[in-house]
Amino acid sequence: MIITIDGPAGSGKSTVAKLLAQRLNVRFLDTGAMYRAVALAVLQGGAEESDAQAVARIAAEVEIGFEKETVLLNGVAVDVEIRSPEVTAISSVVAANPAVRTRLVELQRGVGRQGSLVTEGRDQGSVVFPDARFKFFVTASVDARARRRHRELIGSGSNLTLSTVRTQLQQRDARDENRVHAPMKPADDAVILDTSDMSIAQVVEAVATLVEQ
Ligand code: DC
Repeated sequence: MIITIDGPAGSGKSTVAKLLAQRLNVRFLDTGAMYRAVALAVLQGGAEESDAQAVARIAAEVEIGFEKETVLLNGVAVDVEIRSPEVTAISSVVAANPAVRTRLVELQRGVGRQGSLVTEGRDQGSVVFPDARFKFFVTASVDARARRRHRELIGSGSNLTLSTVRTQLQQRDARDENRVHAPMKPADDAVILDTSDMSIAQVVEAVATLVEQ
């Protein structure tokens, strides 16, 4: 059984997907972490994120894997590095590259063939797993998402202002929504959940109830 949870940054989809996977005792796939790992490889390789050919070459060469929920780039755990502001800033540019998407979609479908899965991203229900048993699109107002992201960043020692976080979030949304290949959008048959006024526990409960019925 495949369950897809898509949505924009700060919507709470990662936390919800992880908790749902635990509750159902199935695997969890964070596809954003895979795009971030390619973005990190681009930075490490000294390439420009806008150089489509160089990015495609890097995407073809890198090895992306998971050990439980730890992301491995060429066999090395990169959980912390892929959350850096530098990686975050270029991840949506790298994710718009069709060669990157083709490579990562293939890897994601490979994980799906291994058994039941809760997978989260932007295109999991619309493109990667069109036949998924359950599809959710988790969203929230830009203000609610910016506040959540800002709180997380402050907690991890950043001093970015709320207004900077909001602007960066909107820029990333715009790139993810307007790209030509697999833009972020709900699948036609997805259940859409607006979490602006919901706690994570309430969202998990709502999703799990639909799945368990
Ligand atoms: O969910 P995230 O913030 O970790 O995702 C990082 C970037 O990767 C984000 O800009 C969107 C992109 N992404 C994507 O294009 N498709 C996915 N399935 C997951 C993430």
